[in-house]
Amino acid sequence: MRSVYQIVMVAAMLWNSPPVLSKEEHGPVEQVGVDVGVMVSQVVEHHLTGCHLVLITTRPQSFMTSRIISVEASLIVEAGWVLSQDQMAKDHLLQGLWGDARFSCRAVILDLTASNSTDLVLRLLEVAGLRKSCETRVMVVGGMTAVKDVLLHRVFHNTIHALYLALDDLTLNMSLRHGNSRLRKILPKKGGRSERVWVYRRCVYCNNGRADVLFIHQYNITSLPQPTDNFFQERIQNLMGHKLKIVSVPHFPFMDFSRDIESGSIIVPRDSIDARMLKTIVSKLNFTFEHRAEPELTWGLEKNGTFNGIIGQLQREETDFSTVAGPTPSRFKVVDYVRTYPADIMTVISLNPTLLPQHLSLIRPFEGDLWFALIASVVAWGLLMWLMQRAWGWVAGGRGVKFSTAILYSWGALLEQPPPNTAISDSGRLLVGWWLVFCLIITTGFRSSLIAHMTVQGKTLPIETFEDLVKQDNWKWGTEPWIFSGIPHDYFSKHTDPVIKTIYQKVERVSKTEGLQKVLDGGFTLIHWEIYFSIFIDSYYSDAHGNTPFHVSKKGVPMIAFLGWAFRKGAPFYPRFCELIFRLQDAGIISHWNKDALARRVRENKAATGQHTQKDPTQVESKEMSLGLHHLQGAFFLLFLGLGVAVLMQLVEYLAHSHSSAN
Ligand SMILES: *[C@@H]1O[C@H](CO)[C@@H](O)[C@H](O)[C@H]1NC(C)=O
Repeated sequence: MRSVYQIVMVAAMLWNSPPVLSKEEHGPVEQVGVDVGVMVSQVVEHHLTGCHLVLITTRPQSFMTSRIISVEASLIVEAGWVLSQDQMAKDHLLQGLWGDARFSCRAVILDLTASNSTDLVLRLLEVAGLRKSCETRVMVVGGMTAVKDVLLHRVFHNTIHALYLALDDLTLNMSLRHGNSRLRKILPKKGGRSERVWVYRRCVYCNNGRADVLFIHQYNITSLPQPTDNFFQERIQNLMGHKLKIVSVPHFPFMDFSRDIESGSIIVPRDSIDARMLKTIVSKLNFTFEHRAEPELTWGLEKNGTFNGIIGQLQREETDFSTVAGPTPSRFKVVDYVRTYPADIMTVISLNPTLLPQHLSLIRPFEGDLWFALIASVVAWGLLMWLMQRAWGWVAGGRGVKFSTAILYSWGALLEQPPPNTAISDSGRLLVGWWLVFCLIITTGFRSSLIAHMTVQGKTLPIETFEDLVKQDNWKWGTEPWIFSGIPHDYFSKHTDPVIKTIYQKVERVSKTEGLQKVLDGGFTLIHWEIYFSIFIDSYYSDAHGNTPFHVSKKGVPMIAFLGWAFRKGAPFYPRFCELIFRLQDAGIISHWNKDALARRVRENKAATGQHTQKDPTQVESKEMSLGLHHLQGAFFLLFLGLGVAVLMQLVEYLAHSHSSAN
């Protein structure tokens, strides 16, 4: 297969065999060619150093090749030869045409001095995708008559920097046939038209927002060097009323309009960050626009390299740019992005955690193993006490202690009501002393923990993550269908994690209000964008104190790297938009707008539904709470339990007594 290097080979060949044109051997026509070459090389030297330079010509030995090569041509391309290659070779050749990231800029010099070269060269530029890069600098050398046709050609649609060095057509024609001695005789004298070069430039938005050609200089090429300071200095500052096409999908707080609109109709967005940004940039750049909703209200999914939705419109260049859209690697290939703000996060919305059941509130201060250890200690201490006293009784004589008395003592001491001490030895008294210390610590611990639990009541653990969702028994979840019209669809459908797969398989499609109703009914969780949904809840489901029945998890999943505006590839105003948007960011205006737009929307929504948002300052925030029966129900349960056990015991005792007396 042929490669880019072949082009370079052509260049090298030309380098080694300098063209034969020179001042001494040739007539005035060739002299013009040489002088134009000198001028081009001067421009290259002053304005295009460091650039990846491509010279496109139709003849291998044009009068410019010598000059350009002696400066620093990166590539010399013969348009006819490249276009005659088969498709694969052509693609391969063109891939390398624009150089790589090592170069700070790109430039292309077009040699249109040969007859009939214009079509070939412009076709090559079209195939090579010049449209995709608006900042490529273009310099054309050609005849006077073609200036407008070339500079206004659609291949330069996006080109910001395009210069045309126009030669007198008569001179050109003659230089082509310089062998003809008859023509040579009628050439104008020195100082005539043949020595002049007219310089034109393309202006993207000069003619009331449309492209135009401006005349900038007339040079006499025999008196080089000429001033060229104002070459390639164009900046897109004013679009002069140019009409841009904008496409949007609503996603508050970034862009907002009603979803119930006619498909693809013109919209007037409600207050949102993008609407504010747009207003600012419009006034700065002086353009008009046609703002439409995307017909399907989708951002775009990829299928075999083509997108639908917003990204599809930009890919087909039907639209100039879009408001809020998220980037993905495949989207980056077909559109340009400018980052505007951090992305919203996908999160889960469930019911607030509920209070733990009150009948267990007396047990909750201690954990289960502590309770077991405590009961075991009471029994063990009683046993030890009984054994030690018993042993002492054997040795020293005496009755010792009854087992039931020992147990009752350890129990009573724990409840701070010990029966009279019955220890008969010093070792027993020592044992009692240490047991009292133990009891002191335990009861203090229990009492303070109980108070704490009564003050701040325990709650169930909230659902915070997708993992929590999947772990719940008998739980369902859902989301709004439009969520899956872009990046979240890719995220869920392509994720390999089993948790995410389960979430995606079982997700139900519900509307916002329907979903929240299901959440209220229990056993259901809504998956949605965090900021987007918080506004909805704050507006319609919160009381004057900001309390809502819903828990919006703060541990959501960031699915999108950032949010930004997407531009069609090669849009000439893209660099200027970036500049302005970055300035808005750096000044902190976008984040200010973000907060402001959110707060304002919540206020408006509340006002619309007749709720009061102003808190009453006289109202005490937290009313004092006294313990009720239900807080302490555990104590009563214990009492009844004890009574029941005592009654049962009484019954057993009675039976035993009557049995023994009957004997
Ligand atoms: C904005 O563009 C219009 C053309 O539509 C032009 O007449 C006007 O002078 C421009 N305004 C500024 C401030 O350049």
